[in-house]
Amino acid sequence: MKGVERAAALLKASTRLCVFTGAGVSAESGIATFRDEGGFWERYPMRDFGTPGGLARIGLSQPERLVDFLLDLLEPVSSAAPNPAHRAIAALEGQRRVTVVTQNVDGLHQTAGSDEVHEVHGSLFQIVDAAGAPLKRLRAREVERMVADLKKAKNGRFLAGMRAMSAIKPLIAFGPSGLKHRPNVVLFGEAMAEPAWSRAHHAVARCDGMIVVGTSGTVYPAAELPDQARERGVPIVGVGPEEGDADLWLSGRAGDVLPALVEAMAA
Ligand code: OAD
Repeated sequence: MKGVERAAALLKASTRLCVFTGAGVSAESGIATFRDEGGFWERYPMRDFGTPGGLARIGLSQPERLVDFLLDLLEPVSSAAPNPAHRAIAALEGQRRVTVVTQNVDGLHQTAGSDEVHEVHGSLFQIVDAAGAPLKRLRAREVERMVADLKKAKNGRFLAGMRAMSAIKPLIAFGPSGLKHRPNVVLFGEAMAEPAWSRAHHAVARCDGMIVVGTSGTVYPAAELPDQARERGVPIVGVGPEEGDADLWLSGRAGDVLPALVEAMAA
């Protein structure tokens, strides 16, 4: 594969590697990205579905749209398995110290076996109270049940909104004084997930090599992490179909490129 040997040479001496990932790394697991054609924000405008205020408005005015959104969000994640890209990243740990910093909320890096993963935009499975304190971790089975219940709510024309609110109770619930609990997913305008964000900064400040995979690099502050590594002169290899900012870019799908890169780095 073109460039793989050169990329491997660039990263070979690295002993503290940082892998920074975005939605593209999970695309081959069947989870849509946000900004590609037909992506999430095309179907569900970001100002309505990506902000706390927008979601509250949609919930009140168009509950059936909220059901569609939640189904489209939860169903692929509930049935997704790690793809060769996640597995290649996990396999890197057999070679050197690796920290994964991900903008994804799907938990697939951990399922693939990566040990040190910082989810800077939080996790769909981690439930927190209104103040952000962790309450519990949802099991895959609970998410699957929610998907089934949401489908039922969608098919029943009447009271779809009420049935949906009841179906998603394990995920989001309201009490007399407002929000009771929600997933620890960072929406636009909210603070980054902690302690993941501080730990990600720490890892990036110490890394001596970086792979950037499957991200448009357009959402800040997450996108400042590769910038910080670059400022320190850390070699950066980029992976994805559309060329971005990196010392060397490997064009292609993460599931094709990463296994080849990891194999070349081991040689
Ligand atoms: P985007 O949708 O902005 O970008 C996805 C990137 O993945 C693009 O550069 C694609 O070219 C690339 N891509 C697509 N398929 C790929 C594949 N098979 N292999 C490798 N790359 C592929 O997603 P993110 O950059 O992750 O935040 O978006 C960042 C943040 O914006 C998300 O975490 C989310 C979103 O709004 C919040 O909601 C706060």
